[in-house]
Amino acid sequence: MQPSPVTKYCPFPPVNLPDRQWPNRVITHAPLWCSVDLRDGNQALPQPMNIEEKLEFFALLVKIGFKEIEVGFPSASQTEFDFCRRLIDDNRIPDDVSIQILCQCREELIVRSLEALRGAKNVIFHLYNSTSPKQREYVFGASKADIIGIATKAIGWLRQHGRSLVETGTNLRLEYSPESFTSTEMEFALEICEAVTDVWQPTVANKIILNLPATVEYATPNVHADQIEWMCRHLTRRDATIVSLHTHNDRGTGVAATELAMLAGADRVEGTLFGNGERTGNLDLVIVALNLYTQGVHPGLDFSDINQIRDTYERCTRLEINPRHPYAGELVFTAFSGSHQDAIKKSLPYQKPGRPWDVIYIPIDPADIGRSYKAIIRINSQSGKGGVAYVLENEFGYQLPKLMHKEIGRIVNDLADAKGTELQSAEIHDIFVREYLNPREPLHLEHCQSTKRDNQVNCQAKIIYRGQPLNITGRGNGPIDAFSRALTAAGVPAFELLSYSEHSLGRGADTSAIAYIQIKDSRGHTFFGAGTNTSIELASLKAIVSAINRSLK
Ligand code: KIV
Ligand code: ZN
Repeated sequence: MQPSPVTKYCPFPPVNLPDRQWPNRVITHAPLWCSVDLRDGNQALPQPMNIEEKLEFFALLVKIGFKEIEVGFPSASQTEFDFCRRLIDDNRIPDDVSIQILCQCREELIVRSLEALRGAKNVIFHLYNSTSPKQREYVFGASKADIIGIATKAIGWLRQHGRSLVETGTNLRLEYSPESFTSTEMEFALEICEAVTDVWQPTVANKIILNLPATVEYATPNVHADQIEWMCRHLTRRDATIVSLHTHNDRGTGVAATELAMLAGADRVEGTLFGNGERTGNLDLVIVALNLYTQGVHPGLDFSDINQIRDTYERCTRLEINPRHPYAGELVFTAFSGSHQDAIKKSLPYQKPGRPWDVIYIPIDPADIGRSYKAIIRINSQSGKGGVAYVLENEFGYQLPKLMHKEIGRIVNDLADAKGTELQSAEIHDIFVREYLNPREPLHLEHCQSTKRDNQVNCQAKIIYRGQPLNITGRGNGPIDAFSRALTAAGVPAFELLSYSEHSLGRGADTSAIAYIQIKDSRGHTFFGAGTNTSIELASLKAIVSAINRSLK
């Protein structure tokens, strides 16, 4: 990198709009959406989609609810032309969906594109030419007047050659893009848009779409919003115009730029699913739509089965979605950090039907987009006690006493640390069984019988202690007390009982019980133990044995 001062790059000039209105507005309704997956997105694929893949993708877009879909560039290649024809000839376009095609401002290409569109019910014919000073000078060597001439002549050709299409029943609309709009002088962008509008003569009932692309994203989103507000204020036929956004993501702020420009007055948004597109991509429509949804504004697009949408997208484009991708990424409903897991676990019970969604760390209910809570908590060495307890309770039914969370959390964390990777739920269960339920060394309870007389319980048990089979007896005010006394009388180091809890496990004929006991040994150290059995009494005695084994380990 160039050392400071950086002279190699120039800051983007701001727009002179001191009375800008957009910062005080809120978004209250969804924009018109247009998917450009099959054109801008497809152009950017290392291996573009074949016709079958494009057909599958088109069906997906229709299912999601897009009413405007840019299907390609039919004058650019035979495949693109054939795809357009397939859609029309196979009757695959619902009556309420407009197909949009892109075309350069050249007469023969306009004529060819119109052939591809014959028979379509609703068409948006998208013409574009580059308008920025750099494009004018470096690429075209053209004056401003030349650039305006290119656009206005093309609109005239479209009127002329499109007449027969309109006469045979096609609803033909025009979209015009001053390509590289955001890098164009505002006054010139306005001038060319006005010139195009003059030729097309839109009405309030049949509006022109003026698409104002951030072909390359060079500025911060507030500058983009200023540019859009400036245009919205200066267009003379604003009421006969649909102002459309088309952001790219070179600075990683395509979504923010679109959202602020919606505040600035834009009516329509172009983009792609998951942001596929040239370089760093087009605007990600899924993010903008679901961001709206989480603010209480229905986007009018259906992402209730986002996994299926993702699968189709990945198969057709051969691109993979990053696991951290908002809403769709595999890991976005997964918390690894202990404090996050704890907060999620604690806020979930507050989620009552009919109440607004308010789960800490999870801004959208995963169920709304077909994802599940199950994957929310996964365990690695960064996880805390809450996460382990959550998994054991939600997936295996063990309601560990709160004080035990820390103990088992530490054991699981140490093992996750040693393993170096995430632990699956089954592995956490194995750890619990291995640490608490299975150990038989140095103490094992073979058999126990207790009898009650005069409010006292007598316990007779058979144990194996340090390899020695022993018959032991004890008397106390309950089975646990009697068994504890029998153990200490037989030479097991003394301990104090601190806490006890139990609950049933499973249902019906398979019901058993689990007991949790906490003891304190003679050094003052505390240990939990757990035991299961169909008899709750035996489960408690096994829990004592488990705690003792852990203390003597
Ligand atoms: O990014 C862009 O400017 C485009 C135009 C063709 C609209 O894709
Ligand atoms: Zn683009």
